[in-house]
Amino acid sequence: MEACYLVTMVTSTITATAALEAQRIGRSFDGKPVLEAVDLTLGAGEVVALLGPSGCGKTTLLRIIAGLLAPTAGRLAIGGRVMAEGGGTMAPPEARGLGMVFQDYALWPHLSVRDNVAFPLRMRGIGRQDRRMRAAAALDQVGLRHLADRWPGTLSGGQQQRVALARAIVAEPPLVLFDEPLSNLDRELRESLAVEMGRLLRRLGLSAVYVTHDQAEAFTIADRVAVMLEGRIAQIDAPEALFLRPASVQVARFLNIGAIFVGALEGGLFRCSRGAIELPAAGLGGWCGRKSGPAHLLVPRTAVRPAEPANGHLRARVSHCQFQGDRYLLHLDLGDAAGAPAGGHLACPSDRPARAGEVLGLALVPDRLHLWPAPA
Ligand SMILES: Nc1ncnc2c1ncn2[C@@H]1O[C@H](COP(=O)(O)OP(=O)(O)O)[C@@H](O)[C@H]1O
Ligand SMILES: [Mg+2]
Repeated sequence: MEACYLVTMVTSTITATAALEAQRIGRSFDGKPVLEAVDLTLGAGEVVALLGPSGCGKTTLLRIIAGLLAPTAGRLAIGGRVMAEGGGTMAPPEARGLGMVFQDYALWPHLSVRDNVAFPLRMRGIGRQDRRMRAAAALDQVGLRHLADRWPGTLSGGQQQRVALARAIVAEPPLVLFDEPLSNLDRELRESLAVEMGRLLRRLGLSAVYVTHDQAEAFTIADRVAVMLEGRIAQIDAPEALFLRPASVQVARFLNIGAIFVGALEGGLFRCSRGAIELPAAGLGGWCGRKSGPAHLLVPRTAVRPAEPANGHLRARVSHCQFQGDRYLLHLDLGDAAGAPAGGHLACPSDRPARAGEVLGLALVPDRLHLWPAPA
């Protein structure tokens, strides 16, 4: 937690030379808003992930930062230089000097690995000898120096993406942009390459915006994660803070933090179709202090402990028990037969196995619950 406060502090004290400063960015297509009032500031050396479902506007925002698309509103500065303002002036991509890595590698098939990596240096008019040295150093950083003379088409997907990464960092750009760079790779490679990319960005002290729809990838790579929903940044925080203090029921639902119940608050009790849950008198995350009314209750996975049916706050039926080597994962059905409201299912870790069909009690850790007012 301390680390997350530190990051926030550092960011706010260096806004003068922020790697990226996007203010109130908007973009519409055919009159339909796709981005609305997006604010995003990155400190030097900071890595921020844009995490959101498909279609929420991640690529649109990244293309605006890259200079491939003009915003219809807002102001964008990179390294303190204004790149776009109020839908008017806009600096072209080549004037921004950013590194970019896309899903489909985008390597030139007719250039060797070395020449692909050296390409941004050639564009900047750097001499041949210098280009070769710097391309070799960038290939070293991604562990591919030995493949410098190969053609991209003879490399595996993971190797091609490392070449694209070397090309993105070779000119030491002020900011590197990633758009779902690992989504064409299989899961195992995705995980190891995400760890490797995160380490490389930190080793080189690079600032980066990393677009993904994969939560694990975002949490692996980023200092802070911006959760994007329907064209807006719904919350931006360190990964741990997103889970401890989700800003809204929408964020909690997207991050799949736990079960969400639809019900109402009445005299210190949360009532829903499953019964009533006694809530702690104080310190409930998210609640704005109203005494009663329609509400959403988030029961995070980490707030639930299996208990004897008679003792728990809630009852649940085990639908499946999954052995995970060091513990069990109990898949619990919290919904009722008449078609449950939101929050019918919860996967909860347990030291002990349980039978499918067994009814358990669930004890809740009260200070981990969150409650939000719901539309009536
Ligand atoms: N050039 C375009 N013309 C019209 N609509 C677009 C264009 N680019 C993106 N959109 C729309 O904007 C929304 C956000 O797209 P995008 O930024 O690609 O989402 P994401 O990368 O989060 O999946 C989508 O509804 C998409 O159809
Ligand atoms: Mg996209």
